[in-house]
Amino acid sequence: AKLLVLHGPNLNLLGSREPAIYGRDTLAGIDARLAAQAQAAGHTLVSFQSNAEHALVERVQQAGAEGIDWILVNPAAFTHTSIALRDALAAVAIPFIEVHLSNVHAREPFRRHSYLADLAVGVICGFGADSYALALDAAMRRLAPT
Ligand code: DQA
Repeated sequence: AKLLVLHGPNLNLLGSREPAIYGRDTLAGIDARLAAQAQAAGHTLVSFQSNAEHALVERVQQAGAEGIDWILVNPAAFTHTSIALRDALAAVAIPFIEVHLSNVHAREPFRRHSYLADLAVGVICGFGADSYALALDAAMRRLAPT
């Protein structure tokens, strides 16, 4: 199957961005590990990061056209603001998991609300880079064996 990982704004800075909250792993390192984890199970995984809401919306629309089976998305700050990203995910109707490195429920109150979470199959947060690996495992368990 084909999986897509989407990373929202400022996640390109992972590794140096507030490491006490987000850890020391770089985005390139996380993406490489996810691709290997998917490949080991016979699946294909591609990643996309953007700081721009419109680019993420367009990537989701493209995912619908290219037959992506599952999406893992860390919408970053757009989690708390983006009706457009929510509408794009609803439009393509691809099952998705919302992922956060930090435990958004243990931080500022404005991080507790997500515009995407009620459409997600599930939400994984608080495990640092492991949040992505756990989400990928959950998605692959729901795919037919290859
Ligand atoms: C985040 C949490 C968001 O609140 C924040 O805006 C981010 C990263 C996380 O992975 O913990 O940029 O999505």
